[in-house]
Amino acid sequence: MATAIAIASGKGGTGKTTIAANLAIALAKFGKKVAVLDADIAMANLELIMGLEGKPVTLNDVLAGRASVREAIYKGPEGVLVIPAGISLEKFRRANPEKLEEVLKEINDLVDILIIDCPAGIGKETLIALSASDAVILVVNPEISSISDALKVIAIAKRLGTQILGAIVNRVSNDSTELSVKAIETILEVPVLGVVPEDPHVRKAAAFGTPLVIMYPDSPAAQAIMEIAAKLVGVKYEPKYKKKEKENFITRLIKGLFGGRK
Ligand SMILES: Nc1ncnc2c1ncn2[C@@H]1O[C@H](COP(=O)(O)OP(=O)(O)O)[C@@H](O)[C@H]1O
Ligand SMILES: [Mg+2]
Repeated sequence: MATAIAIASGKGGTGKTTIAANLAIALAKFGKKVAVLDADIAMANLELIMGLEGKPVTLNDVLAGRASVREAIYKGPEGVLVIPAGISLEKFRRANPEKLEEVLKEINDLVDILIIDCPAGIGKETLIALSASDAVILVVNPEISSISDALKVIAIAKRLGTQILGAIVNRVSNDSTELSVKAIETILEVPVLGVVPEDPHVRKAAAFGTPLVIMYPDSPAAQAIMEIAAKLVGVKYEPKYKKKEKENFITRLIKGLFGGRK
């Protein structure tokens, strides 16, 4: 039986698909058998990031009862199994999200970890994905609208009995308007599993249809995702980029008082 982990956010565009795809590959790099499923059946874009677009049979066919789950599973980078949602609107119209739970159970038997890329918001697919998952990871941006939407997902996950592993703070550029990790942990009352910086390599990799951790493994965002994956599987990983300590007022004050003295 796999551990099913839903990647959810509340707010759209926080980086769920980017994190889901790259975390899946990162976990595979650490020796896990991993599958990643696109539960965003309306806005499917996992397949674009994974370089697997245009596959003939997709999750929408399975949800429409026209194909078996196994027919919709494709091998992606690092042997990660990918279940794309399919970008055909016509197929989406016929899909029945209620069947998602059955599908998730079937994939569970094939891998160690199943990553589920959820749609934004708390619609039917998110609810089904959350209730069928063992755990959820929230992908948030360091701004208040993202955090308040994540709170709704946390409330629902709690009600459904889904374990909340924590939050990943994505697109951090350390400018003064951003919420700090400490503030985010205080508001959400869940641990922050990792911080992924704003990184132009993310967009470049997406444009090439090659996952970031494959195309730019040394980039700051890829390194951050590898570090999170290592934490999840309990192995030690030394990122190539040392995080810059943010020089806040206290740090500057201490430096001013004691700097120079040896
Ligand atoms: N760390 C990052 N640095 C720069 N761009 C990012 C980062 N994470 C995500 N993006 C960009 O943000 C947009 C939304 O990301 P996506 O993963 O599709 O979000 P979601 O699945 O939550 O809607 C994409 O254009 C993606 O390339
Ligand atoms: Mg998405």
